[in-house]
Amino acid sequence: MRALCLSALYEPSCRGADVSPLFWLRRRPHVLPSRAAYALWAERYPAEAHNLLMQLEQDAMLDLMPDVCSLRVLDAAGGTGRYNRILTSLGARVVGCDHSLDMLVRSDGVVCGAELTQLPFADQSFDGVVCGLAIGHVRLLEDVMREFRRVLKLGGWLLVSDLHPFQTLRGAQRTFTSADDRCYAVEHYLHTFEETVSALQCAGFSLQAVREPQHGGWPVVLVWRAQRSSGP
Ligand SMILES: C[S@@+](CC[C@H](N)C(=O)[O-])C[C@H]1O[C@@H](n2cnc3c(N)ncnc32)[C@H](O)[C@@H]1O
Repeated sequence: MRALCLSALYEPSCRGADVSPLFWLRRRPHVLPSRAAYALWAERYPAEAHNLLMQLEQDAMLDLMPDVCSLRVLDAAGGTGRYNRILTSLGARVVGCDHSLDMLVRSDGVVCGAELTQLPFADQSFDGVVCGLAIGHVRLLEDVMREFRRVLKLGGWLLVSDLHPFQTLRGAQRTFTSADDRCYAVEHYLHTFEETVSALQCAGFSLQAVREPQHGGWPVVLVWRAQRSSGP
């Protein structure tokens, strides 16, 4: 399947006036695993919604975000700290984590290096977990969901966004242009909505709300909120 750069939506600098087949050949991005990709991208990754996809995503995330004032919230895979900053401005006590130290050094607030599948926090230590545009980089969703549930208090909430599976199925990639003007894509795994719901249920969450913001008549991001069910 030909890789579509979601250029107009996701990465303005991959945009080009040349739309001939040669354009796609020349610009076909080299796919890198997440940590290697974000090491190259970090320098140019602003801590704000810097394209249309992120603006649509952020609006939907804020729409589903509970009142976070005084709550202890984990910004998981927080990168350069976009949600760390937003949550802090809303009165939350935020801890950010990410496996890319190159991204983290550009973040404000309290942050630490961590894999989503192995969070360095005690059981039931957060009221909420936010995870923006990151879970598609992880192959096994169940492992991440179990870890999110472990660190959440009883009744705690989870707010997650990612590229919509519809876009992944049609070949869209998360692309960026490095400082030396090369186009790369970040390794991304398809998680259908059915797989997402199943992973949530297996980990002990109940789905509360879903948003699928669209552009040009197609869903571009999937945003959902779930609640940790009771039990150990
Ligand atoms: C597209 S960025 C999003 C950053 C931030 N959440 C935001 O919305 O602005 C994805 C982030 O996920 C992080 N990431 C990807 N896989 C990860 C993993 N397995 N463990 C921890 N962080 C991960 C990357 O390093 C990167 O900073």
